[in-house]
Parts: sequence; C-alpha cells; structure tokens
Amino acid sequence: MRATICLLVCTFAVIYASSVRPVMEGLTFHHRQVDGPVHPIVKDWIDSRRVESQSRLNQRQDVDINQVINIAKQVWNIIQKGETVLNTTFDYATAVPKGIKEWTELEHWTEPVTGAYSVWVENLFKHKIVEINYTVVATPNGQYQGKGQYLTNIGIIPTYVHSMWGLILTASTNTHGLVNVGSHESPIAAIQVDLNWIVDWRIKKFTKTEAYYVRGDGKPITTLN
Ligand SMILES: *[C@@H]1O[C@H](CO)[C@@H](O)[C@H](O)[C@H]1NC(C)=O
Ligand SMILES: *[C@@H]1O[C@H](CO)[C@@H](O)[C@H](O)[C@H]1NC(C)=O
Repeated sequence: MRATICLLVCTFAVIYASSVRPVMEGLTFHHRQVDGPVHPIVKDWIDSRRVESQSRLNQRQDVDINQVINIAKQVWNIIQKGETVLNTTFDYATAVPKGIKEWTELEHWTEPVTGAYSVWVENLFKHKIVEINYTVVATPNGQYQGKGQYLTNIGIIPTYVHSMWGLILTASTNTHGLVNVGSHESPIAAIQVDLNWIVDWRIKKFTKTEAYYVRGDGKPITTLN
C-alpha cells in the first residue's frame, strides 16, 4: 500500500517537474514597437474621452504653470489574472499646472499621441507563453490661459492579452517623474509611463518594467529601456 502511494506521488512529482522545467528554462523576454493603424479598442477609448473634453474654464488665483502635477491616478491595474481590468472612465493620469482642479479647465487639446508595443516571453521551444499587446496613449497640447503644453488621458490600453494555462499574469500602469521640459514662459509637461508586468508560475515569479516618455508638445512617445 505504502509503496503504491509512494509510486503514485513520485510519478506525479516526476511528471510535474518535467512538465514545469521545459517551460521555465531558457525563457527569453521580448519587447518591440509595433507599426500600423491605431487598434479599434484604442480608437473607442479615444472617442469615449472626447465627450469629456469640453473645456470648463475657471479663474483661479494660485495656479503655478511651471509646476507640473498629476491630479488623476498615479498607479492602477490594467491586467489581473490574465484579463484586462482597465476602468476606462477613471483610469488615467494627467500632467497639468499646479492649482487647477480639473483637466477640463485647460483648452486647445489636440489629437492623442499613441505608441503601440508588444511584450512577450518565449520558452526554450520559441513558444510564446505570455504576450501583451498594448498602446501607450496621451492627449497633448492642453493650454492654461493660452500658456503651456500639458497632458491628460495618459495611460496604457491592453489590446491583446495571452498567457499560457497555469501562469498568473498581472500588469499595472505607473506614472511618475513629472517635469517641465519647456521654459518658464512656455512650459512643456513631460511624464514617465511604466508598464509593470508580473508573471507568476507558482514556483517562480518575474517582474518586468517597460518605461516610456511622453511629452506635452505631442512629440512621438519614446522608449526608455
Ligand atoms: C470604475 O471606477 C469607479 C471609481 O472607482 C467605480 O465607481 C466604477 O464602478 C468602476 N467601474 C467599473 C466598470 O469597474
Ligand atoms: C500582437 O503583436 C504582435 C507584434 O509583436 C503581432 O504579431 C500579433 O499579431 C499581435 N496579436 C494580436 C492578437 O493582435
């Protein structure tokens, strides 16, 4: 009886170990920029944000156009257990002058800038065990009383998520490093936008960060790592 149990357990252990190892060994991480038209999911998001972009000008006393701040979210989840969980109405960051309360107090916003990317993990057999396609997006050129080039609706939109059975894939957006890269008279907001992604395979876990740089003057989004 004991021998049978041992045999069962050992057999299972061997099968488990050998099924895990080829997947875990020789993993390679990939990142690349993807050309082509804006993904329909991103288009929909851009359209939904347009509705909200009616300017509501306010006269405020203590606005500092040189100090760039985020009055929306800083960190939020975009993928949980391999599924997109982006809350498209509330999940975005801003880079606006200190002192304003709503980004809609700015005006002259232009069309969003976008950058499409793909990250994936390949195993020894060149099989993609994880893949995330996503677009970094931001609306530039917002002005406060005719001054500056600020940002709103900054975020990362997942357009395709795939993870092999048994893997737990999580990802979040983290925005930070807000600066004025323009002059005192003509501020230009800039911000770093990270994709943090975690692949958890029970016995092993990876955390990776892809970093992007977004400017208020609408210059193309650049990759930082
Ligand atoms: C999005 O977030 C807001 C505010 O946290 C919440 O009220 C709303 O229910 C969320 N929507 C979804 C679809 O999760
Ligand atoms: C994801 O992006 C890659 C580019 O690296 C592309 O080849 C692939 O078709 C995309 N997947 C989907 C489902 O769009």
